[in-house]
Amino acid sequence: MELQPYLHTIARNFDATSVFVVFLVIVLAHLVPYLSDPAGLRAYPGPTLAKLSRAWLAWIAYHGRISTSVHEAHQKYGTFVRISPVEVSIAHPEALQQIYGHNTGTTKSDMYDAFTQFGGIPSVFAARDRVEHARKRKIMSHRFNYLAFDVIGDLAFGSPFGMLVAARDSTQIATSQKAAMESYGVEDAKLEYVTISAVDAVNVASSIVVFLGVLPPWIRPIMARFFATKMRATGELASMVVTAVAKRLVSSVSRQDLLSKLLEGRDEQDTALSKNELSAESLTLLVAGSDTTANSTGAITYFLAQNPNIQAKLQEVLDQVLGPPGGDSENGDVASYNEIKNIEYLQDVINEGLRLHSTVGVGLPRVVPESGMTVLGKTFAPGTVVSCPLYTLHRLPSVWGNDAEVFNPDRWSKGDRATMLKAFAPFSVGPRACLGRNLASMELFVYIATIFHRYSFVLRTPDQELGVDDGFVRKPLGVYVGVKRREFRMT
Ligand code: HEM
Repeated sequence: MELQPYLHTIARNFDATSVFVVFLVIVLAHLVPYLSDPAGLRAYPGPTLAKLSRAWLAWIAYHGRISTSVHEAHQKYGTFVRISPVEVSIAHPEALQQIYGHNTGTTKSDMYDAFTQFGGIPSVFAARDRVEHARKRKIMSHRFNYLAFDVIGDLAFGSPFGMLVAARDSTQIATSQKAAMESYGVEDAKLEYVTISAVDAVNVASSIVVFLGVLPPWIRPIMARFFATKMRATGELASMVVTAVAKRLVSSVSRQDLLSKLLEGRDEQDTALSKNELSAESLTLLVAGSDTTANSTGAITYFLAQNPNIQAKLQEVLDQVLGPPGGDSENGDVASYNEIKNIEYLQDVINEGLRLHSTVGVGLPRVVPESGMTVLGKTFAPGTVVSCPLYTLHRLPSVWGNDAEVFNPDRWSKGDRATMLKAFAPFSVGPRACLGRNLASMELFVYIATIFHRYSFVLRTPDQELGVDDGFVRKPLGVYVGVKRREFRMT
């Protein structure tokens, strides 16, 4: 933390009385709303600090354990937990539809304002206003549906960032975001570049954004100054996107990719996306499209490495469809989605991985509309924030049994699938559910099938737990694995 210089300045400028007055104001600002309880939330149990201040959520977000700490709170306090002065987390399958379903009238909370850049223009993901979101979603979803079935690969900007080829986490970004944005569509624009670590920038930026987002909006600019180094990552990420868009707009590549689809997109007034909107959507696609699938693939690979019997069963099923290992894959071929999309066991392995890991594990915060709303028979006042914690939902013993913490793909074929599906929402549900869901499913099918048809994985330490850094997206931390090419064997 870069608090030191600020604390020194504060200490120099304030005498003891002023410090006491500031302290008193802060205490009263938290106590008065708690005691007057305008939204009627006092009945809900939860950690004491969470009832008084958003600092509890900010603290667990800062330490990368937001989903697991909320989960522990649910284990302690039950289905309803007050996780901030204004927010109640509700861990129940029915809450999922009641909060996020169509026609509930809920809107995204002020947390999402922390995700906007480019002059405050939100992307489809961060848009809170219903009309604005509907406009953006309409433009985007047509494009997604056209594309999801055509392209899978380096699809976002027509050229990869060059990390696989360089075997390094590095990419070039324009030194001036503004100049790069002004150069959109300009053929011979002269831009200066600097090299950054792209994955690092995504990781740092996404964790600091959630930390800021759970704080009250007025304190965010102050905290952003304390964490200037981390905030730099959000600027780098934005520049990375603007640089990629600028390059793509003047490239002669005529292929269809997400950007070309976005450029064609028009709303009902036949208006195209502005430069800021184009940049905002591209940033969302970069983060939503890379971090989520990469972390899901990493977690599923870990679970399969940890469970050799399940891995062997998957490989047997893959061999039946794709032929023995060492066949087509010798030529570097990737399993085709059409060949593998109906392999039920592969689907069960992926679902089980998405359930247990919960790539997006937080309860996605939603504001109760003017009319108020009822969830599981409890009434919530307008303006209250409600959420259903996905990590907890995915391990409710009432749905998943006492072995909820165990990676067991067979539960999907042997258990009550309909009940499980009602409590399974890795992509969320309703009008704000994941736009990239079809694409993500295709990617996961192809990655997992191709990798495990070709290779076997073991953990170096068989009982090693998977460490996770838990921001908005849960990122698996490093584990050592052994990888071996599978060989063709006559049986
Ligand atoms: C395994 C991979 C993925 C998972 C688990 C996932 C999960 C989610 C979840 C839970 C949401 C709701 C977020 C909220 O309400 O705040 C969401 C929204 C979204 N996702 Fe994904 N996602 C994945 C992959 C992708 C991909 C590949 C793309 C695009 C290339 C994408 C694009 C989006 C967009 C644009 C939204 C915002 C939709 C809206 O608000 O209308 N996602 N995703």
